[in-house]
Amino acid sequence: MIHDILDSISDGLDAILQWIVGGKHAYKGKLGNSRKVLKYKHRKGNGIRIGEKFISMKQSLHGGLLLIGKTGIGKTSKIFAQQLFGASKMVDTSFVVFDQTKQARDMAMPYMEQELGYDEDIINFADATQSTVGWNPIENLPLDRINRFSEELVAIEGGTNVKEPIWNNTASAIIGMMIWLLKYIQAELGTNRYTNLYNVRYLVTLIQANVKKMNVLVAKYGDDMLYTSYRGLIKNDAKFLNSALSNTLSVLKNWQDENVIKTTARTTLDMGSYRDEKRILWIQSSVMAQDYLKGLNSLFLKEWFTQIIEAGIPTKTDNVIAFLVDEAGSLKTKNKQFIPFISSQIRKYKAYGIWGYQSFSQCQDLYTQQGAETLKANTGSVLYLGGTNLATATEISKSLGKYSYKENDRTHHREVLTPQEVMHKNTKDGGIFISSGQPPMLLKRIKAYYQNKKINTWAEEQAPPIQGGFQQMPPLLPVDEFIGNTDSNTSDNG
Ligand SMILES: Nc1ncnc2c1ncn2[C@@H]1O[C@H](COP(=O)(O)OP(=O)(O)OP(=O)(O)O)[C@@H](O)[C@H]1O
Ligand SMILES: [Mg+2]
Repeated sequence: MIHDILDSISDGLDAILQWIVGGKHAYKGKLGNSRKVLKYKHRKGNGIRIGEKFISMKQSLHGGLLLIGKTGIGKTSKIFAQQLFGASKMVDTSFVVFDQTKQARDMAMPYMEQELGYDEDIINFADATQSTVGWNPIENLPLDRINRFSEELVAIEGGTNVKEPIWNNTASAIIGMMIWLLKYIQAELGTNRYTNLYNVRYLVTLIQANVKKMNVLVAKYGDDMLYTSYRGLIKNDAKFLNSALSNTLSVLKNWQDENVIKTTARTTLDMGSYRDEKRILWIQSSVMAQDYLKGLNSLFLKEWFTQIIEAGIPTKTDNVIAFLVDEAGSLKTKNKQFIPFISSQIRKYKAYGIWGYQSFSQCQDLYTQQGAETLKANTGSVLYLGGTNLATATEISKSLGKYSYKENDRTHHREVLTPQEVMHKNTKDGGIFISSGQPPMLLKRIKAYYQNKKINTWAEEQAPPIQGGFQQMPPLLPVDEFIGNTDSNTSDNG
């Protein structure tokens, strides 16, 4: 509490100073008062943590936080880490954390496990031995979402021939057919062990390698509809068909990688449990591998949002789910408006995100000017960490607007703060914060987790070793067995 008092005194002095200096112009516009928004304890519960203080949960659920700060400014140590170390002071919250550098788990898990009682799951598409859970994108995919999923997969993973829509449309049609076929086989045999993208890819190679076997397989397990579309596909001339198939394989190129194959063979992650138990999921696909896994990571994130929305409005006792996306710029999505859109949609479902970017212009590059504006408008709070550059300062100056004052019987107009004044505000160790419809607030300093002795000691503890991991490759569909005399061979319910 001593900090609170010190903060108040220093804020008070600022206010007096501002009042004296600003008084010159009968100062009308003003900066927001951060003490109204950031507190150690909100009456109706704490949400997002900024340094050691909190925004209310109500405000946090109003679209989360857009966090802008160049590298080394403290995004991780002042904001992301602080969520985890401060979790027990929040309304009950489970976390989904993009932890590509593994830094966050190493730092926070000892404390979260031993002091706060959190259980963890780890998924690492780049290293199956370091994953404690798997996620199979098509295992629980309802039949009426197969086509949409296939389109999404193609759009996210991108074929080699992305310029011509015909190739991608064909690729998604082919992937869709293979998923349907696997679902029919699953229904027939009562096992889902082959229903995964590894086998989808395998079936595509089978069309190339032995179309006759594939014909029999489709005829035997597919329905009329699937059979008709499949025949339509293979009736194309050989050159077209070959290009279509190789383009499809390039969309599925990640399913040549053993780590991807193993981590996506089965769904063992229980997303629903995050509402009932204090859980934390670390998404740890490595930075080195990040580029080819971008698509898979965003597909996975999308699955979370789909699940959350489909589960309906949560109950009073359900945990909040917070998504911590330190490097949101590395998430690739089909639709440029996806993150802006989702940030506003999940608020109804007791979930929010903290989206970190290097700069606002990075958002504009990623989501277009309009998308970036939507994102900023949809996230209830925006924090620019550190001293501001001219572009940010200009924006802040604009958002503060102008005021007029009389001097020597003439009316003058002036910005509340000019961009230059914003730039020279002392926010080097803090930032500029916009929340709750308040005018921008200047934060003098924001505490990093390591400035708290006790937490820093915990942060240096060794993170628990990762238990589990996937060693075995999943089985490929035994095609010969299935198209041969299957009647005597269907007892395998693995
Ligand atoms: N344990 C620590 N003790 C002292 N200083 C630290 C500690 N950890 C980080 N720092 C310092 O704090 C600053 C902010 O680091 P942080 O990792 O939070 O930045 P960031 O904004 O997340 O950067 P990036 O975009 O590179 O991830 C850095 O200058 C770093 O040197
Ligand atoms: Mg960081």
